[in-house]
Amino acid sequence: MAFLKNCWYAAIWADELKTGELAARTLLDTPLVLYRDDAGRPVAMDDMCPHRLAPLRLGKLLPGGTIQCGYHGLEFDSSGQCVKNPHGNGRVPRGCQVRTYPMVEKHTLAWIWMGNGEPDEGLIPDFGYLDADSGYDVGRRDTIEMDANYRAIIDNLLDLSHAAYLHDGLLGNAETAWADIEVRQEGPYVYVRRDMQNVPPPLLRDLLFKRDGAPVNMWQTIRWSAPSAVLNDVGTYAPDSDRTRFSGQLGCHILTPVSEDSTLYFTAAARQGPLGAEADEGEDALKARIAELRRYAFKEQDDPMLKAQQENVRRHPGVAPVLLPAIDAGPVRCQRLLDEMLRDESGQ
Ligand code: FES
Ligand SMILES: [Fe+2]
Repeated sequence: MAFLKNCWYAAIWADELKTGELAARTLLDTPLVLYRDDAGRPVAMDDMCPHRLAPLRLGKLLPGGTIQCGYHGLEFDSSGQCVKNPHGNGRVPRGCQVRTYPMVEKHTLAWIWMGNGEPDEGLIPDFGYLDADSGYDVGRRDTIEMDANYRAIIDNLLDLSHAAYLHDGLLGNAETAWADIEVRQEGPYVYVRRDMQNVPPPLLRDLLFKRDGAPVNMWQTIRWSAPSAVLNDVGTYAPDSDRTRFSGQLGCHILTPVSEDSTLYFTAAARQGPLGAEADEGEDALKARIAELRRYAFKEQDDPMLKAQQENVRRHPGVAPVLLPAIDAGPVRCQRLLDEMLRDESGQ
């Protein structure tokens, strides 16, 4: 499958990339080995030794930051160059090199650039709320392995009306199906905002607000940037108050394709707003419960639906979806932008 290459993808949460350890990840159909060099900088290289093509993940990270292939012991530095051949006269053959990829650590994630174009750090989307000094108390940083294509997950996130049905009771309910929807584009971001009035609060919103089940007003603003980084800003407030007195959450939904039908889903939420129910179960327990509920919604509810939907789409390649203008404007806009970028990149 063709993926956009000249852009940044989240590869791993920065704190999961541990000094002295190799991590293996397949991203964009490319097996990679990830680690930190001697200076602590993230490194990504093809998970394949140029000698007999053994996976480097089965090798060793040596003091000094070189990787030793586990099969016959060739050693590679963090630029991918072979720097030691322990055999014969020790000469390193020309072309004995592993491809490496630029990486940048930002917003507590390690981002990777897998294209041939010049990497531009300014293209990393803003997820500043994840930063240690942001003032936000961020919950569990989760990585969910989805059995779905990343573009199906983009459609899912940009049309949150599905929460009324697929996440009934948890993130939405029948009363939240109808909303005022606004789609707008600003710079590199597309925003889809949904406003709901006087609706019963879904469990997750109630947990963060008054915990009395009384009707609320709610907003959900999804922000997408290419290729697949989404920020969700949600808020709940009393129908008789103004929206500055709210309780809500910021959540990232950053998608990195593994293959055509699997995706890594990086997510972490932080509470926002001046209001919130007193946490009777303690703030840490509440954060853990919210992280579990979010994982349940994405992995146990979204994922099986998307996987089954995709099977039907594959089975019926000639069938175009009948779109619903009220809810599909956001997803359609973003998929078109992504199509344009893919066309530009492939030169078609
Ligand atoms: S396969 Fe790596 S050294 Fe032989
Ligand atoms: Fe969902």
